Amino acid sequence: MTVTIVGAQLGDEGKGGIVDLYCDEADVVARYQGGDNAGHTVVEDGTEYKLSLVPSGAVRGKVGVLGNGCVVNPATLFDEIDDLRERGLDPDVRVARRAHVILPYHRVLDGIEEEIKSESDQEVGTTGRGIGPTYEDKAGRRGVRVGDLLEPDVLRERLKYAVPQKRALVEDVYGLDVADLDAPEAFDIDAVFEQYREFGRRLDDQDMTVNAGSFLTDAIEEEESVMLEGAQGTIIDIDHGNYPYVTSSNPTAGGAATGTGLSPGVVGGGEVIGIVKAYLTRVGSGPMPTELGGVVGDTPGYDEQGEGENEELATYIREEGGEYGTVTGRPRRVGWLDMPMLRHAARTSGFTGLAVNHIDVLSGLDEVKVGHSYDLEGEETFSMPATTEHWRRCEPNFRSFDGWPDVDWSSVAADGYDAIPDGAQTYLEYVSDELDTPVYAVGVGADRDETVVVEEPF
Ligand code: GDP
Ligand code: IMO
Ligand code: MG
Repeated sequence: MTVTIVGAQLGDEGKGGIVDLYCDEADVVARYQGGDNAGHTVVEDGTEYKLSLVPSGAVRGKVGVLGNGCVVNPATLFDEIDDLRERGLDPDVRVARRAHVILPYHRVLDGIEEEIKSESDQEVGTTGRGIGPTYEDKAGRRGVRVGDLLEPDVLRERLKYAVPQKRALVEDVYGLDVADLDAPEAFDIDAVFEQYREFGRRLDDQDMTVNAGSFLTDAIEEEESVMLEGAQGTIIDIDHGNYPYVTSSNPTAGGAATGTGLSPGVVGGGEVIGIVKAYLTRVGSGPMPTELGGVVGDTPGYDEQGEGENEELATYIREEGGEYGTVTGRPRRVGWLDMPMLRHAARTSGFTGLAVNHIDVLSGLDEVKVGHSYDLEGEETFSMPATTEHWRRCEPNFRSFDGWPDVDWSSVAADGYDAIPDGAQTYLEYVSDELDTPVYAVGVGADRDETVVVEEPF
């Protein structure tokens, strides 16, 4: 069977930790979308691992697969594998031959487009990893796939077509000179060919490439358990998120089928766990109706730190929760939990269970609020509107909950659900009732042991 892990909000909900928690019972952990824009944290007995591409099962020695829906930067992948080896792990990662490859020019173009958009305040605040430009080339049928790295003639042909177009884009559309860029070699066919041919050799020598669909389907047919590790989150899904402030793939559960080659029946026949942070964070631009403070450069129209109505509270939560980007180190925007967002996420992915993280971070507050519904042009609405322009105009209707005390969370994790302070239990039950979905796990700290396990999905 499969267990699919989906971010219910805007990313960074603590997916890595829940994958690590539950994959004990899994044989394989596969990523189905995204690339090294992800930053998934696993903490095992105080030792922290931050993973961008290697699936989080690596910490427990599970076979990892990067599915066809992923975009793979081989340089990051090999650096990450080498780093993890130095730290004593032995990652066994297989890469789909159908997955698309992030090339050096994709990163450069990501940066240029963000820069140009920022002149009219339209930047997304991407991670700068070349994710969007790589998916654009995939859809534009001019991408390079992992399988192509193993076929030098095909690789060269593809680069001979794509590279001059990218050079023309930089020079003729953006009006820049390639020679003046930080990495002009990104637009040199021979240089890119040599570097990527070498990556292809390493992938081949180490027998790392697979036909992901058949690899995973065979595993399921042999009664193995497969965990599908979503990256990013529902509201930055390119179809179901707040377009255009989104990533360029489908983190929602449908992406787990198209991004692995497992059939929708297999994915839908398993469990789909929505990962929820007990409050809300966002990195990058775009609306956030329940935002408390703001971050200069990311919160739209927010020019000076210290402006927001609830700035102190936002700063408190940011510091308590260590809310700084895993990939970029940027401070994350902070807000109250947004229920219309979660209703939308639960419907889109069909959550069978929830993991609610960071309950410990909110402890010690007198009052915890939740955006229960929105007011949109005089009407109360309970789910997210389909356009970002409407979402921007939504005013949250808050519900207030009594806070809960700071306690010894490690003992709570050891003692189980009933040891969770009453106020937090009321909060969790509200979320579960509103989404009509049981709580499977409650995160009370970053470490693997700091999770209250209610249900084992495998
Ligand atoms: P992901 O991208 O969804 O895997 O999440 P990130 O790793 O980017 O961010 C989550 C951060 O919160 C990491 O630093 C985790 O170690 C940490 N974390 C996860 N769950 C909890 C929790 O329940 N409580 C606290 N305090 N930290 C948590
Ligand atoms: P994990 O898997 C939070 C955001 C970026 C930006 C937008 C588009 O760790 O939860 P991209 O580089 O993907 O083109 O950026 O998406 N973003 C994330 N935010 N967590 C992530 O991943 C993210 N991956 C991308 O900040 O707003
Ligand atoms: Mg993250």
